[in-house]
Amino acid sequence: MAGYRIAVFVGSLRKESINRQLARALEKLAGDRASFEYVQIGDLPLYNQDHDGNYPAEGKRLKEQVRQADAVLFVTPEYNRSVPGVLKNAIDLGSRPYGDSAFAGKPAAVAGASIGAIGSALAQQHLRNILSYLDIKVLPQPEVFVHFKEGLVDAEGNVQNEGTRKFLQDFTDRFLSWIESQR
Ligand code: FNR
Repeated sequence: MAGYRIAVFVGSLRKESINRQLARALEKLAGDRASFEYVQIGDLPLYNQDHDGNYPAEGKRLKEQVRQADAVLFVTPEYNRSVPGVLKNAIDLGSRPYGDSAFAGKPAAVAGASIGAIGSALAQQHLRNILSYLDIKVLPQPEVFVHFKEGLVDAEGNVQNEGTRKFLQDFTDRFLSWIESQR
């Protein structure tokens, strides 16, 4: 597959996740300019510093996937006004042991959806704070706060609302340019 390799973290394990649907829509908008590789985060052990010397295989797998990627994309819901624990745990595992983070210097972008009007904005603000500490180069704009309504993305990943599709196309284009600019 040609194009940038993008490690995609979806912050929801739910099968019908609207954030997974959003990620699929972005994948479709990127077309053959990128290959989206979805990082498995549901089977990760809880991060435990006691295991730094004998790192869990699932943590090593995640770090390798991030290292092989040209960039990272986070698409996350908001849980109780913050980042879902499952996503934070994945980031913690990818960032350790100290001095051996897989994330440092990687270009990245953040997006998210909610059934509520604020479209996971607070979770994304918290996430940007975490990523900044990890020295990840996050695309500053546009912010993507999708107020998700039933049927916004069809089964093939097409965005049904024209205005939203154009906005997400612009976000995707700018993310791909951002990756190029950070190389
Ligand atoms: C939510 N939801 C939610 N929505 C929101 O806008 N702000 C919030 O703080 C929360 N908090 C929250 C906590 C928990 C534990 C759950 C399960 C849900 C609603 C959330 O946006 C909605 O369930 C989305 O559909 C979750 O995204 P996925 O799983 O569909 O990608």
